[in-house]
Amino acid sequence: MSVRLNHAAIFFNEKTGEFHLQGRNFSYIFKILKNNQLGHLYFGKKIHHRDSFSHLFTISPRSNTTCQYEEDESFSLELIKQEYPSFGTTDFREPAFQIIQENGSRITNFEYIKHKIFKGKPKLDGLPSTYTENEDEAITLELVLYDHLIETELNLFYTVFDRFDALTRSAKFVNKGNQRLSLTRAMSVNIDFFDSNFEMLHLSGAWARERHVKIRKLEQGIQSISSTRGTASSPHHNPFIALKRPETTEHQGEVFGFSLVYSGNFLAQVEVDHYGVSRVTMGINPFDFNWLLKKNESFQTPEAVIVYSDQGLNGMSQIYHELYRTRLARGPWRDKIRPILINTWEATYFDFDEEKILNIAKTAKELGIELVVLDDGWFGNRNDDKTSLGDWFPNKKKLPNGISGLAKKINDMGLKFGLWFEPEMISKASNLYKKHPDWLIQVPGRRLSHGRNQYILDFSRKEVIEYIYSMIDNILSDAPISYIKWDMNRYMTEIGSLGLPPERQGELSHRYLLGLYSLLEKLTSKYPDILFESCASGGGRFDPGMLYYAPQTWTSDNTDAVERLKVQYGTSMVYPLSSMGAHVSGVPNHQVHRITSLNTRAAVAYFGIFGYEFDITKLSEREKNIIRKQIDFYKKHQELIQTGKFYRLLSPFTGTKNEVAWMVVSRDQKEAIAGYYRILAEPLPGFKKLVLKGLNPDFEYKIEGLPQTYFGDELMNFGILLDELGGNWKKELTGDFVSLVFALHTL
Ligand code: DGJ
Repeated sequence: MSVRLNHAAIFFNEKTGEFHLQGRNFSYIFKILKNNQLGHLYFGKKIHHRDSFSHLFTISPRSNTTCQYEEDESFSLELIKQEYPSFGTTDFREPAFQIIQENGSRITNFEYIKHKIFKGKPKLDGLPSTYTENEDEAITLELVLYDHLIETELNLFYTVFDRFDALTRSAKFVNKGNQRLSLTRAMSVNIDFFDSNFEMLHLSGAWARERHVKIRKLEQGIQSISSTRGTASSPHHNPFIALKRPETTEHQGEVFGFSLVYSGNFLAQVEVDHYGVSRVTMGINPFDFNWLLKKNESFQTPEAVIVYSDQGLNGMSQIYHELYRTRLARGPWRDKIRPILINTWEATYFDFDEEKILNIAKTAKELGIELVVLDDGWFGNRNDDKTSLGDWFPNKKKLPNGISGLAKKINDMGLKFGLWFEPEMISKASNLYKKHPDWLIQVPGRRLSHGRNQYILDFSRKEVIEYIYSMIDNILSDAPISYIKWDMNRYMTEIGSLGLPPERQGELSHRYLLGLYSLLEKLTSKYPDILFESCASGGGRFDPGMLYYAPQTWTSDNTDAVERLKVQYGTSMVYPLSSMGAHVSGVPNHQVHRITSLNTRAAVAYFGIFGYEFDITKLSEREKNIIRKQIDFYKKHQELIQTGKFYRLLSPFTGTKNEVAWMVVSRDQKEAIAGYYRILAEPLPGFKKLVLKGLNPDFEYKIEGLPQTYFGDELMNFGILLDELGGNWKKELTGDFVSLVFALHTL
């Protein structure tokens, strides 16, 4: 039995019990083992289908430390690469799941029962996921396994996309018996790779320096990244890892990407065992997780998106970009050109009134900006970060005409209006807290810590979600709001819910996320035309889970152009330019106090969803003219930037680290924009050229502002000689923090 599309196919070899999942360029093969569990055979470059893959199965070499089945001396799970392994019956590696049973046992035995192969891709219960728009875009394999002793079903889902080299996986447990089971681990994916000749790439950092690229060689033992922050996937580690071959570069070689569609506690880990097998697992962090599964209850894991590329890291990124831009992000804004915005945060912080905002709007209009976003400080008595979260009604002292009055005035100027919310949080100094002190996440009798003077609303409770929904709905139904910045600025401590029974306290972090997702679903369904941008102290929740609801994310609170090179470069490993909010801010920069030119600030921000974030009413005429030109430039090339193919050219993390470059090429290869950045001036640096990628070798290109034309093959092999650029170009390359932007089009 097999189902095929243009490129993807899923085959089942009935006689040998083997499944072969084929993407455009990869094969993924596993089988039903003789104990009726599932054993993994191969994941890598596409290979031919055949009637039997038995010769790919390995079960030696056994050592003196191996334990084996009593009734079959040759069988040990320690020696077998598995699909969704358990712990405690001959395999000593960390498992994909663990279930504590009423008698205290943790031993399970899920055996294959049946499977279905069908076109399309089912939705996940209450969780964000990639999707198809019609059945012919993907094929799904759903396997049903059963543990007879605990009468529990395990469903494993695999989807192969036709257009992308991507495979998604998730699992679901259903308790069909009478026992109360406790799920203490339920990962989304497990893959046992044949060898460990890999490097692990991950995106790590901190607030204001998110998603820096780190690469380490795999070693025997466990290497992992995770979040325990509860409310966020975190700025410290992104829910993504890649295994690359040591020789794999940006543009060549094999790489396997693992990305989790989830916004909370996660774990991504590689365990290299004593045979050199690498076990990759990824899912909800089992640490501090405990889910009670009563009769007829089920638990669905988030989705893991696995990408295969033999075209290097850049090849992997392009697959993620296209998949996440077109089949994870949703709604009318997915494909629409996004407005250029001005955000008031770094312009005014909490200190504004209607007049100030209208003045900013007036200048914005003059400059060609399209959307004015009023950030924090518009509600309750919020004049600093100590009060009013939860009181989502306008501060009449600052805004005598309310949000609707202000929004209408801004609309009358021919601009759109956007508003900031931080719906998940509450201040103690708020009416909401007076009314519902029990709505905070807290543990009775224990200290309550704060983060930025705020506390977390218990989103595991339906009544809290409903209340916050109605508060936001009141504002949105009353005022012409085109955009929402959905912020979240603290992590969970003293994790407890007054709404959950003792045996369900270990479920709170995940239930919180389910509550958040349900609220976002409700709001985005009622207001599909509002553009959502997610934010968590900048890029603390830049993950595929949030991208499902908000097609763009505020990439980092760090708006310094030089720091942004690293943040945006790292973010581009997984996330498309259409998802990265990038603003030109004031100097000295508010985070690192660096002074960079207006040109360089824009040259970095062009490679994202462009905007401004400083007091534009104070600009000189000269600066205004520069900004008008920047806006014209961005508008002219916006479609290309939002939808083109992105190529990383020079990395801030390797080589000299002093030069960074990237480019975006239109799908038809007729247009491209390249950004080149040099951080510090160097004395006599040697000859410099910028070699481009992704162009059509046979097309002849004109670079705006340069006299001659170039063939694509010249630009991709010889490149652009930077030293020989004359006039203004040369001037731009003088001093520190300099940049050049090349706009190319065919003749
Ligand atoms: C954190 C965000 O990242 C900022 O952009 C800004 O919205 C502040 N919160 C407002 O409090």
